[in-house]
Amino acid sequence: MNLTAEIAGVTFPTCIMNASGARCVTAEELEVIGKSRAGAIVTKSMTLNARDGNPTPRYVTFPRGSINSMGLPNLGYQTYVDLIPHLKEFKKPIIASIAGFSPDEFIDIATAIDAAKPDLLEINLSCPNIEGHPQIAYDFKAVEQLITKIRNVVSRPMGTKLPPYFDPVHHDHIAKILERCGIDFISVINSIGNGLVINPETDAVIIKPKGGFGGLGGAIIKPVALANVRAFALRLQGRIPVIGVGGIETGQDIYEHLLAGASAVQIGTAFVEEGPQIFGRLEQELTTIVARKGLRSTAEAVGRLTEL
Ligand code: DHB
Repeated sequence: MNLTAEIAGVTFPTCIMNASGARCVTAEELEVIGKSRAGAIVTKSMTLNARDGNPTPRYVTFPRGSINSMGLPNLGYQTYVDLIPHLKEFKKPIIASIAGFSPDEFIDIATAIDAAKPDLLEINLSCPNIEGHPQIAYDFKAVEQLITKIRNVVSRPMGTKLPPYFDPVHHDHIAKILERCGIDFISVINSIGNGLVINPETDAVIIKPKGGFGGLGGAIIKPVALANVRAFALRLQGRIPVIGVGGIETGQDIYEHLLAGASAVQIGTAFVEEGPQIFGRLEQELTTIVARKGLRSTAEAVGRLTEL
């Protein structure tokens, strides 16, 4: 079975990789991904300076999902710049995720990381967990201004990580901005921001930062993820490939993301819970399903969803 994917001219040995944020902060974690069957190494979103992140507990699972408010713990962009040559030894694409607290920070980080030549850059416009910093991706004017500026300093393939949108007019608007700004791929969706989970035993919230509000991930977000993959794939028609993220635990979940229009997928909560062996398991499960459908490659499944 051919499980490869091509995104922005970069070939991925398999279409299954980690999502930014999941076990990808430290050199050791990134090496584990490098040695695993993951089809790429995606870094944690890097900021200008190293960050410890928010107080704990800040990532907790509950039945069918997870909630997190990590607060962007990461080593600071310079450490990732220095790590990239080593990570290249694993011979799979490297996706550098970047996050700034101002346009100037995004520009500085993007300029430096672009020079280190990761295979792709993923601009995170959708972190929901920093108090006082709204998700950029919900401010359409700010998105266009910021992407335009970053595009000017980045020569590598550059995509954006988007949050879920819940209205077709918003999908229309964002899709047009992405096309105008020369975006090479999108990853959808980031966690569903600012959810709230309550512990039935204690009557308390389950994470400490922000009074318990945090980004939702895991199985419960799959329908929202599929809707956003489908909505963008229909509008972008392959001109900008889509990486599907959200609620993937099984090969069937991946197959559904492919049907909806994802060219590749990223695994967040399930990778955190299961560890690096998840990539091999998902490959096997996906292979069985795609073969049963009479297809020779996962690429053939992309966008084949039918309507009634
Ligand atoms: C964090 C969470 C996100 O969903 C994101 O996109 C970036 C950062 C975090 O809290 O670290």
